[in-house]
Formats: sequence, C-alpha cells, structure tokens
Amino acid sequence: MIIDGKATAKAIKAEIKTEVDKMLAAGHRRPHLAAVLVGHDGGSETYVKNKVLACEECGFESTLLRYEDDITEEALLKVVADLNANADVDGFIVQLPLPRHIDEQKVVEAIDPRKDVDGFHPQNVGRMAIGLPCFVSATPLGILTLLQRYNVETRGKKVAVLGRSNIVGKPMAQLMLQKQYGDATVTVLHSHSRNLAEECRQADILIAAIGQPAFVKEEMVKEGAVVIDVGTTRVPDATRPKGYRLQGDVDFDAVAPKCAAITPVPGGVGPMTICMLMQNTLLAAKRR
Ligand code: GUN
Repeated sequence: MIIDGKATAKAIKAEIKTEVDKMLAAGHRRPHLAAVLVGHDGGSETYVKNKVLACEECGFESTLLRYEDDITEEALLKVVADLNANADVDGFIVQLPLPRHIDEQKVVEAIDPRKDVDGFHPQNVGRMAIGLPCFVSATPLGILTLLQRYNVETRGKKVAVLGRSNIVGKPMAQLMLQKQYGDATVTVLHSHSRNLAEECRQADILIAAIGQPAFVKEEMVKEGAVVIDVGTTRVPDATRPKGYRLQGDVDFDAVAPKCAAITPVPGGVGPMTICMLMQNTLLAAKRR
C-alpha cells in the first residue's frame, strides 16, 4: 500500500479551512503565519513558497519576509524580536539553514516559544520530551498523523529511526517512545551504529531520515514492514524539466514490494510537514 501524504494533507487542510471559517463567523480574525527567508537556497525557496500557498488553502493570512544572505545576525535577531512583539502575527518560522555567519541556535532561541510553530525552541523541544503541551515539530508530527490516518498501529511495535537530527530523528524517536503518541519500542540508528542493516531488518516500522539518497536497500527491510521516507535530496536527472528530481532515503522500487505500506517521495512526508505547520499555526491562533 502506498501511503498518500499529498491526499492526506489536502484533506487536513480542508478540515483546517472549515475551522477557520467557524472562527471568522464567531468574530475572530484569520490565523496569521509569518515566514522569514534569508538568501536564495533552492530548497528553502520551494519550501517557503509552498508554506505560503498552504496558508491560502487554509484561509490563513501569511507574510513572507525576505532578506539577502548578507543580513547581519543582529539585524535578523531584530526581525525576530519585532515578530515576537507583533500582535497581528500568531506564529512564525525562520527557514533553516541560515548563512554560516549567523548562529542558528541563537536565532531559534530568540523566538517566543508561544509563536514557535516549528517547535524548534528548546522550551518546546523539552516540553515535548516530557509530554507537556507544546508545539511539536512538523515533520515528526506529520509522520505520526499519517500512521494514525492509515490505521498503522505503533503501540508495542519495534520502530527504527534512521538519523538523529534535531528536527526529525530525535523528536521522532521521542514521540514514538511516549505513551500518548507512539507507545513503541524505539531504536535510533546513525552513522556510527553497528549492525545497522540488521537493526533495520528487525523494525516493524522503519523511518528513514538520514539525507542519503536510496540508502535503505531491500535487504535492510523486513517483509511486511511499514517504511516512512523523510529524504528529499535533489539528484541530477536530465530527463526532468528542472534537471533534477527528488530522491528519498529509500530505494523505493526495490523496497516497496516487501512493504505492508510505504511513503513515496515526493508526495509522502513532505506535504504532511507543511500541513502540520498549518495545524500548529491554527493552535497558536486559538491559544491567544
Ligand atoms: N528547514 C528544513 N525543514 C525546516 C522546517 O521544518 N522549518 C524550518 N524553519 N526550516 C526548515
């Protein structure tokens, strides 16, 4: 079975839109998401464009703030402070990565946790880790939501998370572990894990988030496993109009026949990530 993230995201955005219509009818204003984009990274440009489009689909107001990549750290921190203070803005994101001369962590920590709809602020990360109300980062939340909507049981299952990044691997493992979310037995694998293939083969649910195109091969997957592919590497492809295609972390053609369910790239996790950002923004607007 193919897990269709695009269709699921579309359905959830329609549900959000219905909520927004109700809010407006009750005299509230539209939820408002602001996005800060620094420089001209191709991937970041695409993500931010899609976030703005998703706002329109959900009936949100959106603001895109663009800066050249020579903006100083001080100036960017001022942008963040202004958004924190702006009562019209319910939530905002600073698209990562940032140019090297800017301390990313310092910028993330400057965001008001109540407006941190990415869930990247240490206060949200910490609250998430101990199961308190917070903004949960969008990619892991999107994966959990997909599994729920496709009735994939996680409770008591063996989940392997491939990758330990702060924005996907670590929060994914935390959520899968927690009783009120995944309630699973979790293994986190990374570049220095021994017997990595064998560990993957044990997993009922394998979540690949290492950013290495087609890393997960057929022999690394158990028959009947559920495979979630978070990878979105641009690989050169002369047959495509843009000269590249998006390649996941999973060797899809070889792995798919063995799986009970698998997410494609594109059209799997990616659309869900943006959709969960919308859900977090709605939550931020409601909390104010
Ligand atoms: N860069 C890659 N993914 C993300 C994301 O979810 N949010 C932000 N702000 N930057 C990113």
